[in-house]
Amino acid sequence: MKKTAWMLLMILAALTLALAGCGTKDTASSGSTPSEGGDGKKVYKVGTEATFAPFESVDDKGKIVGIDVDILKAIADEMDFEVEWNNIGWEPVFQTIKNGETHIGASGITITDERKESFDFTEPYYESQLLIVVKEDSKIKSLDELKDKKVSVQINATGHMAAKKLQGEASTNIMAFESQPIAIQEMLNGNVDAAIGDNAVVYEYIKAHPDQKIKVIQDDAFEKEYYGFMVQKGNKELLDKLNEGLKKIKENGKLKEITGTDFE
Ligand code: ARG
Repeated sequence: MKKTAWMLLMILAALTLALAGCGTKDTASSGSTPSEGGDGKKVYKVGTEATFAPFESVDDKGKIVGIDVDILKAIADEMDFEVEWNNIGWEPVFQTIKNGETHIGASGITITDERKESFDFTEPYYESQLLIVVKEDSKIKSLDELKDKKVSVQINATGHMAAKKLQGEASTNIMAFESQPIAIQEMLNGNVDAAIGDNAVVYEYIKAHPDQKIKVIQDDAFEKEYYGFMVQKGNKELLDKLNEGLKKIKENGKLKEITGTDFE
């Protein structure tokens, strides 16, 4: 009896293995092992949420483009690997890096102490700060004034954390959405008093929507933030590669060329 059960298990395991091998060539990688491209280079899967111009957005041809794409391409060229971009959504970036489906998180991700408990980050590549976004005729002037106001943010982004810090974890005045453009749109629709978002992205939104009557408020109560690329905790091999490549493009001026800002 025991023996038959054992046999069955073995057959099942063999079947599972055989089935797992049936994937097409380019999706052959599973778990946290990168696949190999035609030229033998390692291909790492990158996860992002591409409504975050100028860092990542989808162009009219459906291609993911932006600063993060260019930086990672430059690093990959230096270090001789390839990347495959996947627009999977903000929270899935974190979930799939945790479970190994995604290798690199490249999504304007702020390095925070809390995130560092669960993930590893490269050295920073960009400095950022949150901004308050209101309608042009709004009377709001500072972060402090948002204490009892309705605020929209991107879910689990640093703007969400800042809003919770101000209003308390359980505040019902915080509306959290999938993306920063949606959070800004909700404010423009009059559903909240203010939105909170990353400065470069807010300015890009304003540039793309010139007829919207938008005002921004900069408040130094928001701490400076630094973006980094994120990998699974303990993936030292990949982290070292990314850091080495990043160091090279910092030194040769490529990073500055891409971001347009001087950042060490
Ligand atoms: N920098 C912010 C954070 O790390 C927001 C990033 C959102 N990125 C995106 N691609 N939607 O929380």
